[in-house]
Amino acid sequence: MTHKKADLSVQFCGVHFENPFCLSSSPVGNHAEMCARAFDAGWGGIAYKTLNVDSSFKIVMPSPRLNAYHYNDKRFVGLQNAEQITDRSLADNLKDIAELKRKYPGRVLISSIMGFTSDDWTLLAKKSEEVGADMLELNFSCPQMARKDAGHRVGQDYDLVERFTAVVKKASRLPVLAKMTPNITDMIPVALAAKRGGADAISAINTIRAITDIDLETLTPMPIIFGKSGITGFSGPAAKPIGMRFVSELYSSDELSLPVAAIGGVETWRDALHYILLGAGTVQVTTAIMRHGYRIVEDMIEGLSDFMLERGISSLEEIRGAAAKKLIDPSNFDVRHQVVSQIDEKKCIGCGQCYISCQDGANQAIVFDAEKRKAKVDETRCVGCTLCRHVCPVWDCVTTRTVDTQTTSHAAIF
Ligand SMILES: Cc1cc2nc3c(=O)[nH]c(=O)nc-3n(C[C@H](O)[C@H](O)[C@H](O)COP(=O)(O)O)c2cc1C
Repeated sequence: MTHKKADLSVQFCGVHFENPFCLSSSPVGNHAEMCARAFDAGWGGIAYKTLNVDSSFKIVMPSPRLNAYHYNDKRFVGLQNAEQITDRSLADNLKDIAELKRKYPGRVLISSIMGFTSDDWTLLAKKSEEVGADMLELNFSCPQMARKDAGHRVGQDYDLVERFTAVVKKASRLPVLAKMTPNITDMIPVALAAKRGGADAISAINTIRAITDIDLETLTPMPIIFGKSGITGFSGPAAKPIGMRFVSELYSSDELSLPVAAIGGVETWRDALHYILLGAGTVQVTTAIMRHGYRIVEDMIEGLSDFMLERGISSLEEIRGAAAKKLIDPSNFDVRHQVVSQIDEKKCIGCGQCYISCQDGANQAIVFDAEKRKAKVDETRCVGCTLCRHVCPVWDCVTTRTVDTQTTSHAAIF
């Protein structure tokens, strides 16, 4: 029996993707053989590892350049990398892109480029178009470029972002995505600068400048690169909440009004769907592929397809941005009501976790009967913060009930 599939195709800047799942520019798309395996696995598009001109400035990759971030027994919740853009020659990379487009004409190949001068950007854009790339992604965001006039420093300079985007738009007819750095307070002004330069879409986010660990033997941050370390790019599941914030802001900006390629911490179809619900047109992935391999896309395709079929959703366009519309300014939250917690006595296992957390981290609204080993909520004290619900290890043991803060004694607590 064949499994029925929903239509996952998307149009993004006029380019047809058979599904929204793409590789983001990184070692997962380093050369033709890798990219071919990714296409065979089912990815809709690939942002190839960032190209650079061959110049006197040699790209040298530090080693070791990775440190995985483990949190207690949860492994690989994030990844720190000190990698540079491609260290392969431009000719080799262009040959690979041409070969991929010959073999996979229906799949989308995005050429990620980074120049140091306007001439470099022009050359990279022209050459990428010549060998058949479908789109260009301008890397304004590598957090550890070993030069001051490249990477995330450019991505924080509105004038340079506008200028380099305009240079690329003049050199090529391909749709242009400007890839943003999250190492900035507000991404909108930079994205607007890219728009002024002619960008057709925004990609976000690149990695977040971070320190993931310190080796307590040598008192050196990780990864230890021959005795030293650096503040470098962090990615993976732990970075997703930050990525979602930026993507929703980009999508919701009326002034910007450009399509968004979402990146950051996507591992499952649910992660991808979250980004689509926040307005993403496509979703790019690196860290999850580095950990699990290209085949994660099979689950992504099946999971998203089943979700759509179950809900009668015929195209991703129908739901794109649905969650972003529910975001309002925190100063406008409805405070005329609040919730109070309710603990299901039958489900309570008497662990006391809600009691401890409420005592020491909230409003002392939980009473714990040590003999019966049962927790109970004192509604007159409960402010509805829901900490108890989040720390409770039993599914659905703590629920909430809405009360009106205008008419009940709860008004007094505020
Ligand atoms: C090892 C490594 C190398 C990367 N190299 C590049 C690069 O050359 N160009 C680029 O635009 N982004 C690069 N990135 C950033 C990713 O494309 C992506 O924006 C980021 O990792 C967040 O996505 P993720 O959480 O799915 O990994 C790199 C990321 C990693 C982990």
